[in-house]
Amino acid sequence: MAKFKIGSPSSPKELIDRKEELADLLTKMKSRSINYNVAVIGYRRIGKTSILVKLQDLLEKEEKIIPIYFDVQKNMTEPKIFFTRLQKTIFDSYIQKLSGTQKAKTVTTKIMGEVLSKLLDAFKSKKITSISAQITAEGAIIPKIDFDEKKPDYTNIFYSVFKTLKALSEEGDVKFVVILDEFQDFTNLTRYEGLKDIFNLFRAVVQERGDNVSFIISGSRVHMLNKILDSGKSPLFTHFEKIIIHEMNKKFSIELFTKYLSAKKINVEEDIPEKAFELVGGNPFYLMALAEAWKPKKDIKETYHDILTSPLGSLKNYVDYILSEDLGNVKGGTILKTILRALAISEEGLSYSEISHAIGVPMTKLSFYMSNLQNSDLIEQVEKRFKIRDNIVRDYLEIEAKELE
Ligand SMILES: Nc1ncnc2c1ncn2[C@@H]1O[C@H](COP(=O)(O)OP(=O)(O)OP(=O)(O)O)[C@@H](O)[C@H]1O
Ligand SMILES: [Mg+2]
Repeated sequence: MAKFKIGSPSSPKELIDRKEELADLLTKMKSRSINYNVAVIGYRRIGKTSILVKLQDLLEKEEKIIPIYFDVQKNMTEPKIFFTRLQKTIFDSYIQKLSGTQKAKTVTTKIMGEVLSKLLDAFKSKKITSISAQITAEGAIIPKIDFDEKKPDYTNIFYSVFKTLKALSEEGDVKFVVILDEFQDFTNLTRYEGLKDIFNLFRAVVQERGDNVSFIISGSRVHMLNKILDSGKSPLFTHFEKIIIHEMNKKFSIELFTKYLSAKKINVEEDIPEKAFELVGGNPFYLMALAEAWKPKKDIKETYHDILTSPLGSLKNYVDYILSEDLGNVKGGTILKTILRALAISEEGLSYSEISHAIGVPMTKLSFYMSNLQNSDLIEQVEKRFKIRDNIVRDYLEIEAKELE
């Protein structure tokens, strides 16, 4: 129970619901007749990583399947270190599976030696020359990637790392399920020579991966990912099936809220969890933030207002973070903020001409800003009107706008 922590992904044991999503993912990933690739898409903090980590946990129990979980965002850095980390994750998952099937509890140096020679054989048979492996003094197997320091061929390294999956899957007659969380962050590598068209490189990887590798890509940039996946111009993504992660329903939202408080040995009055759901909806992170701050006998609405407005409030900090991430570095950040405030105080959203009028920017200049806000999922278009997508962000901006009046 102590692990029921706010912020980090739910531990597989503590995960509430998500049974349908997991069943769907599990069937697809276990299939060896159809080789699925899946895109798991959902807004920030909706529970994607929690689902993926649970999936990894379930797949680890399957014979002949090796799940690999890799967070592209957390591991992002310059290419050399990034690819070495990815390769190390592949090795670790493979070795864990192999040694897991051995009787001996501790993996001996002898076994590691055998694994190593298997690895090297597999690479040789697939003509992967730029990647090899070595055993450290502690007996761990780590990758060694050959770089020409003066002129590194990143394209080749990118291909080679993914090729090791094919090589190892054939060698061990296993299937790899490669989960790439925060997939869109691969764009950070496009500034390096040889990786400019990284999504095209990835397409080639998907096409040539062989029969025993499935990819799951995941991310929170819903608008952008949908654009990539639906665009006829990106043939890569026609091979990906979308699984959308929605808010949790009322029943499980109430369960999550109640569970969080009972883990802290706090009894909640009957109607509080339901009111919490009415206030923040089925986003698990919002529910937990509310549960964390609520004190017995307190009006939950007041609690909500507190954490959204007080300087140390968890939701205030969260919205601040989102706004600075999405607007902070963009040209025209102040205008974007003005548009958002105008939308926040409107009852039913605003049309293009109403926005133009409200903020004094001509309609012709507006589309740049609007597509910017849509790309970052801050606003959404419903028929002809634009609205703030997330109710918590909307409430935050509405309070702020009214204070400024
Ligand atoms: N089904 C669930 N049961 C219990 N807790 C959950 C569940 N789903 C999410 N949570 C909690 O909600 C928070 C957000 O979950 P998670 O990190 O999985 O979301 P995410 O969609 O990956 O977020 P991000 O956009 O930041 O990557 C975490 O604190 C997690 O523990
Ligand atoms: Mg996540």
